[in-house]
Amino acid sequence: MMMDLRKFVANRIFKIAVCWALALAAMGPVSSSQIAAKTESVDTFKRNCAVCHAADGSGTTLGNRVHVPDLRSKEVHEKTSAALAQIISTGKNAMPPFGTKMDSEEVQRLVEYIRQFHGDGADHQK
Ligand code: HEC
Repeated sequence: MMMDLRKFVANRIFKIAVCWALALAAMGPVSSSQIAAKTESVDTFKRNCAVCHAADGSGTTLGNRVHVPDLRSKEVHEKTSAALAQIISTGKNAMPPFGTKMDSEEVQRLVEYIRQFHGDGADHQK
């Protein structure tokens, strides 16, 4: 049986269009720079923080040995963003300071990233 090429191509284009529409809808109204910033924070977190805090904020075996708090917990999310940014910048006990490695904007983005680790459904401050 011969394939109707025009039908095939139209079908293909339709499927791609649907995929794009779904992807855009899933992303919501965010600008491309926001997406870039978010992707960057994921990378920054994975590179600098996940060794102790784990990619999902729960804490690795190494992290637990140095008493990392669960970044998904209510206790963490009850803290203000300024307080969390402060700890990231200046460090605390076994938490190393990152203030010399990244600027305050980058630290702020990490705080926003951590705000997404709310597996417990707790109330979160801004
Ligand atoms: C060497 C392991 C280690 C690394 C790497 C690390 N942390 Fe931590 N982090 C800790 C420990 C330990 C604490 C708990 C400090 C304390 O209160 O005694 C902590 C605490 C924190 C807190 C405060 C939570 C609270 O409620 O007080 C935040 C926020 C945080 N880390 C974010 C980060 C981010 C972001 C990075 C990467 C840029 C990072 N950490 C890298 C070990 C680490």
